[in-house]
Amino acid sequence: MNKFIPLVLALVLVGGAAFYFLKPVSPDSLLQEEPEEFNVPLGLPPIPWPKDNPYTQKKAELGRLLYFDKRLSADGTVSCATCHSIPRAFTDNLPIAVGIKQHRGSRNSPTVINSAYQPLLFWDGRAKSLEEQCKGPIANPNEMSDTPNVHKAHEECHKRVCLIEGYKVLFKEAFGANECSIDQISKAIATFERTVLSGNSKYDRRELNDEELNGLKVFKAKGCSNCHYGPNFTDDQFHNIGVGMDKPNPDVGRFAITKDPKDTGAFKTPVLREVSRTHPYMHDGSIKTLAEVVDFYDKGGVHNPYLHQAIRPLHLTEQEKKELISFMEALNGDGWQHFSEPSEFPK
Ligand code: HEC
Ligand code: HEC
Repeated sequence: MNKFIPLVLALVLVGGAAFYFLKPVSPDSLLQEEPEEFNVPLGLPPIPWPKDNPYTQKKAELGRLLYFDKRLSADGTVSCATCHSIPRAFTDNLPIAVGIKQHRGSRNSPTVINSAYQPLLFWDGRAKSLEEQCKGPIANPNEMSDTPNVHKAHEECHKRVCLIEGYKVLFKEAFGANECSIDQISKAIATFERTVLSGNSKYDRRELNDEELNGLKVFKAKGCSNCHYGPNFTDDQFHNIGVGMDKPNPDVGRFAITKDPKDTGAFKTPVLREVSRTHPYMHDGSIKTLAEVVDFYDKGGVHNPYLHQAIRPLHLTEQEKKELISFMEALNGDGWQHFSEPSEFPK
């Protein structure tokens, strides 16, 4: 019996080698991007790179150029960075975003920081990946487009970018034989976005002082951590905490996507990393400071039929309020400040 083992082993080896060398190889896959390593700051899990869009440095760098390039917008006045700018912790610090021709939508610009970890994008979660998300603003007449026709907007953006000789070279280097397309514009930008991170905060380094530590205790005791938990301080779910529900025509939020009545006025639990820098707050930018956010929760949000049951008057003392704010401020970290706007763009 034993003498068969080497024979079986040999067969397996020869078979394996034959499979490895003879398996059909398309010319495209030879040019496919080789995934590269990427290190994350302390306190963050590895980035969930999508299988069809792995990290490469070339792609991330191309994404950075595109992210800052105003030529992605119809009239060359707006880039992604207009509303998600580096010094503002990748937001615009405006209540409601202002896009092309001073057009306004109805929502606040969330930060791009740590969006790598978010399974659903936008306040209502309507995009399932950063790649998909990216195509939104390019075709949004309140943001970068001059037409409400999504297909036309993407076609025109593709022309504006892909006909630039300098970009042709960079797309080839980043994606191999494949041509520059709206999909690859999105893939490159999404790759860049996934490298924009915040970790290594005082919280991650276990360096919270007494006030911040007490704040963490209040945060847990008063139920904040029911929804804001994990490395990104979000449950990645949608809840109605009452913001805007006292207005005449409240934004229905997640309901528009799921049509489930219980999602009325529900919005995505935002990331709390860098939160002291991403003001104003909430989907409508209606709350200016963290102190006012804490007061909002202390009062029990805004009463409405869809209010989440965890949102109720908290009876916080002034001391507890101060501690909560200090704790949230201690969530500022690093992993995004080293980025800079490109000094030159491909010609
Ligand atoms: C005019 C301002 C504006 C421009 C330009 C803009 N955005 Fe945004 N961005 C927003 C607003 C407002 C939202 C939230 C919209 C919503 O939820 O309905 C958003 C949402 C996002 C999100 C989702 C974040 C989250 O937590 O869900 C990402 C990521 C993002 N934008 C990246 C980009 C990229 C990439 C570009 C360029 C291709 C871009 N944005 C251009 C204003 C802008
Ligand atoms: C039921 C889930 C839930 C609980 C409990 C909760 N939050 Fe939130 N939080 C949310 C949601 C959802 C939003 C966004 C709501 C919106 O924009 O309409 C939000 C928004 C915020 C924001 C604004 C962030 C930004 O970028 O706009 C801060 C700060 C915040 N919460 C802190 C807290 C604190 C502190 C507590 C405890 C006192 C708490 N949250 C309890 C779900 C929750």
